[in-house]
Amino acid sequence: MPRLFGKSKSADNAPVSVDERLCHIAFIMDGNGRWAKSRGMPREYGHSKGAETFKKIVRYCGDIGIKIVTVYAFSTENWSRPDAEVRRIMSLLGEYIDGAERELDENKIRYVFLGDKDAFDAHLRERMINLEQISAGYELRLNIAANYGGRAEIVRAASILASRGEEITEASLSSCLYTAGCPDPDLIVRTANEQRVSNFLLWQGAYSEYYFTPTLWPDMTPDDVDAAVRDFYSRGRRYGGVVNK
Ligand code: IPE
Ligand code: IPE
Ligand code: MG
Repeated sequence: MPRLFGKSKSADNAPVSVDERLCHIAFIMDGNGRWAKSRGMPREYGHSKGAETFKKIVRYCGDIGIKIVTVYAFSTENWSRPDAEVRRIMSLLGEYIDGAERELDENKIRYVFLGDKDAFDAHLRERMINLEQISAGYELRLNIAANYGGRAEIVRAASILASRGEEITEASLSSCLYTAGCPDPDLIVRTANEQRVSNFLLWQGAYSEYYFTPTLWPDMTPDDVDAAVRDFYSRGRRYGGVVNK
């Protein structure tokens, strides 16, 4: 089975692996602020630790055979946070892009940013576009939702179709989403004890399985991913029909 991010140290004894039923996993990476607060630290510290966890978890997903990973990094609503926090998240995004560029040949990943890039400063926007372009040939995929909102995405898709005078169907609308061409997530994991969607993949998650864990994102480990994967495989997906489990 192709590996998404190369073999990490923990892979030799990987306790789970996936098949075609679990092609795409998405994470709502929540709890950075609470993680920092519980240590008496500023929220920015939680985001720095969360960024490290993000790299480890994405790598682990590759090790167990997942072909598409999507992460919710920054929502359209997150701009309302204090300036210093927003600045820190933007600089972490830039640092992540630098690292992804450096390791492109090793990781062989296609990076796709979901969301409206116009809101970012010009330099960051250029680096996002550049990373998408230089990685476009790779098959295995990491979607990074940044300045992403599910409602805005659907409105934008409908507007594109209306401006072209095209019929609005499920297929045509899907083809105008940021995720065009990408299969819907099979499993969406949310950390930090919140059981809500917070405007994430509203269209694409129509039949996703949801898994909620109290673990704060910076504390997320491969064992937590394994627990989510095992839970996923215990479920019967029926898509409104009747299937013998
Ligand atoms: C998730 O952690 C990261 C972003 C939303 C950018 P939070 O920053 O929301 O952490 P909590 O929910 O306040 O603990
Ligand atoms: C969702 O988390 C957004 C990201 C993880 C990027 P939030 O912390 O912003 O969501 P709410 O405010 O708890 O709904
Ligand atoms: Mg939160």
